[in-house]
Amino acid sequence: MKVSIIGIGPVGLVTGAAFAEHGNNVVVADIDKERVNALNSGKPPFYEPGLDNLVKGLVSRGLLRGLFKPSNDSENLPLYYKSIRDTDITFICVGTPPNPDGSMNLEYIKKASIDIGTALKDKKEYHLVVSKSTIVPGTTEDVILKLIEEHSSKKREIDFGACSNPEFLLQGSAIAGALNPDRIVIGELDKKSGDVLMELYSDFDEKIPRLKVGIKTAEMIKYASNSLLATKISFANEMANICERFGVDVYEVMEGVGLDYRINPGFLRAGVGFGGSCFPKDVKAIASASRSKGLKVPLLDSVLLINEEQPLRAVELAESAAGDLKDKDVCILGLSFKPDTDDVRETRALPILMKLLEKGCKVTGYDPEPKAVNNFRKLFHQDFSIVNFARSIEEAIKDKDIVIIQNEWEDFKKLEPRIFKTLMKKNPVLIDGRRIYDPEIFLKEGIIYRSIGWKRNF
Ligand code: UGA
Repeated sequence: MKVSIIGIGPVGLVTGAAFAEHGNNVVVADIDKERVNALNSGKPPFYEPGLDNLVKGLVSRGLLRGLFKPSNDSENLPLYYKSIRDTDITFICVGTPPNPDGSMNLEYIKKASIDIGTALKDKKEYHLVVSKSTIVPGTTEDVILKLIEEHSSKKREIDFGACSNPEFLLQGSAIAGALNPDRIVIGELDKKSGDVLMELYSDFDEKIPRLKVGIKTAEMIKYASNSLLATKISFANEMANICERFGVDVYEVMEGVGLDYRINPGFLRAGVGFGGSCFPKDVKAIASASRSKGLKVPLLDSVLLINEEQPLRAVELAESAAGDLKDKDVCILGLSFKPDTDDVRETRALPILMKLLEKGCKVTGYDPEPKAVNNFRKLFHQDFSIVNFARSIEEAIKDKDIVIIQNEWEDFKKLEPRIFKTLMKKNPVLIDGRRIYDPEIFLKEGIIYRSIGWKRNF
């Protein structure tokens, strides 16, 4: 099939690469020329393990290409619309960033819908439009399809079909998730729409469960999934804080809890909280949308509150271990929101950094992925000259009083206690924010070790 995708972000590009890998002809469009050029030269514009090789191969075989959306006064604009029109299916994979009040910003969704509508104006054949972006229930039908109808003068169900097909892939292991998802959820406008999308997935492993539901249900499945996963993490974090007070290790407790087949062990790792472009945004968006319908959402509010306070727990542990933090040399290891990505959106490194600065610390940040460091610098307009960014782990740790592990890159896991002992100042304090080390080994080496939910923090 011929597939067009709007948005060269992690979801759009990885989804496009997966469809191309399954033999489809895929074009991925974006308003950002740099992203399009990078893609067309076979290089993904962001870091995702394995994506380099996959994209390079697909671009050179002509199965995947980037498409630039020119400005409104450009003479090339009709060609852009033609490229969309010439495909059978268009996926909307643009971002839905949060507004300051937590609600969803639909600016990019609306622009993509208008583009699709304009492109379909001159199309005689049937076209399928699929929303993959995470959007609150009702958005596909009330916003996207309405705009497409307005700008194409065509009718849904008659001239074009629509589906919601939420994405469940994880950054860092996105390719495996896109090529071999654990489920395919198809929210169909009508039977024909669902059948066309099912056809696109016909090459995927037949063992993958396929679930056909209504569009709004599919949209809600995405929010319910992410809200439940975020709830599991905040639950584990609250349990961690309780466990510490009772001299119990939360990791041992969650191992026992996760053995219950009704619960399962996933997403029960306590730490400095969840970040990324999905959990914080999605929980806020569905909470805000529910509130606008007059509903209270105390559970989701608590999930978010726990997550706001949890990174500060790392600073409290540092303070309880090292005393007054004023003028202490502190290093944050890990700036991206999780390992294997350069994405720093909602990274817990930021609230940790801000608290350390407030306490008068001298802070050094380090991430093994240089793009993560650059993205972290750009995160907001504060003067970052007050923060030092190290170029190697050794440089980051050297002469520090305190090291805080913010995420779990393999490079950090491999560090021997001796390295901390040798490079750090006297009485080194290690705050293991993601429980990547065995506490006993570090204690034996004479390191003052603390970790979220650890039994000997007090
Ligand atoms: C998340 C979901 O896991 C995906 O299923 C979903 O498709 C995606 O959002 C999305 O909506 O697009 P992602 O944000 O890439 O994926 O990352 P996760 O691996 O889920 O991690 C999110 C955050 O939770 C990270 O900061 C991670 O450190 C934290 N986390 C995760 C914990 O603190 N504890 C855990 O046990 C697991």
